Amino acid sequence: MAQIFSPTANRVPLYILGTLALLTAVIIGLLWYYGSPRYLEVGYRPPQPMEYSHKLHAGDLGMDCRYCHSQVEFSRHANIPSVKVCMNCHGIIGQDNPRLLPLREAWASGEPLQWIRVHDLPDFVFFDHASHLYAGVGCRNCHGRVDQMVRVTLVEPLSMAWCLDCHRNPEPYLGPPEEVTNMLWQPDRFTAEAVAQLIQDRDISPGDQCSICHR
Ligand code: HEC
Ligand code: HEC
Ligand code: HEC
Ligand code: HEC
Ligand code: HEC
Repeated sequence: MAQIFSPTANRVPLYILGTLALLTAVIIGLLWYYGSPRYLEVGYRPPQPMEYSHKLHAGDLGMDCRYCHSQVEFSRHANIPSVKVCMNCHGIIGQDNPRLLPLREAWASGEPLQWIRVHDLPDFVFFDHASHLYAGVGCRNCHGRVDQMVRVTLVEPLSMAWCLDCHRNPEPYLGPPEEVTNMLWQPDRFTAEAVAQLIQDRDISPGDQCSICHR
């Protein structure tokens, strides 16, 4: 009997299977990479367990960042305030406000609120808030106008190139260290002499050696 298919045709289903397996692997890989929270893009603005507004508290009410992020000048990480800090006011203010329900529930149960991280560097990068604030680099340089954000949004890529741009030329970003939390402070209010004085007084030279950020 004449053969309709050549003997090599027996391998065609194998090729198809192989290609399919490869495609699936690539798709899963892409989903993994782009879908995981590790891949954070400018504009990243995750929903939070409750609608806490920086615009209301830090903007309209004029609260200083350090009322809540009290460790930011002294440690690597800026702390996220505990439920108790919120209850300093909300034990009294807005007791009937439905928007504060998740807060009251957390307070009653003793469970912390599960805030979603917005800024998150890979583990192989070393970053330290305290040394940047000591050098007079204000929050606004890296986090933008948080006092205008109803929900915190990533405004800088947190990429290596971004870090290095400033490290190689920090002068335009320096200001008086006592103004680091002032969102309205403009660099043009700092004279070149004042910048030079600050650099000398606080011995500022960020540098771009790999070992500074990869320890
Ligand atoms: C009343 C307390 C309070 C004040 C005042 C406050 N924050 Fe926050 N901040 C929070 C809470 C709670 C979160 C976590 C929830 C969220 O991301 O909105 C947070 C989150 C953040 C984040 C995002 C952290 C992350 O997940 O990456 C940044 C950046 C930030 N705050 C900066 C500031 C700056 C800058 C100021 C001053 C202009 C400020 N905050 C004032 C309570 C406060
Ligand atoms: C030089 C840039 C820079 C400055 C200035 C800066 N931050 Fe950050 N901030 C970052 C980076 C980068 C992260 C992510 C750190 C990480 O993932 O380890 C971060 C994270 C945070 C977080 C999340 C918790 C944490 O520490 O990981 C909060 C809250 C925060 N910053 C608040 C502030 C406040 C408030 C100020 C000003 C008083 C400030 N930051 C100044 C770059 C900066
Ligand atoms: C220094 C006092 C103070 C602290 C601390 C404080 N708040 Fe408030 N909060 C206020 C005031 C004042 C209002 C406005 C009340 C009103 O309009 O009825 C408010 C309003 C709110 C509202 C309601 C907004 C709306 O649109 O109805 C939420 C939600 C809220 N705060 C969450 C928080 C959370 C979460 C924390 C802790 C991270 C916190 N607050 C810490 C003073 C404070
Ligand atoms: C807007 C300017 C600016 C940006 C953006 C910036 N830095 Fe810095 N960085 C500085 C300055 C200024 C210093 C202080 C240098 C000094 O005191 O000599 C510094 C110091 C440091 C130090 C040394 C701290 C120490 O304790 O030794 C590390 C580590 C560092 N930066 C990491 C980073 C990383 C990682 C990023 C990006 C995610 C970053 N920086 C983004 C300006 C910046
Ligand atoms: C001022 C801080 C800083 C310095 C200095 C620095 N890096 Fe990085 N590096 C970072 C940050 C932040 C990231 C993470 C970037 C991201 O997640 O997109 C990174 C990521 C990397 C990565 C991973 C790249 C990737 O795509 O994931 C490598 C490799 C690397 N750095 C090598 C170096 C080498 C080599 C040097 C010295 C020539 C150096 N870095 C100096 C901050 C720095």
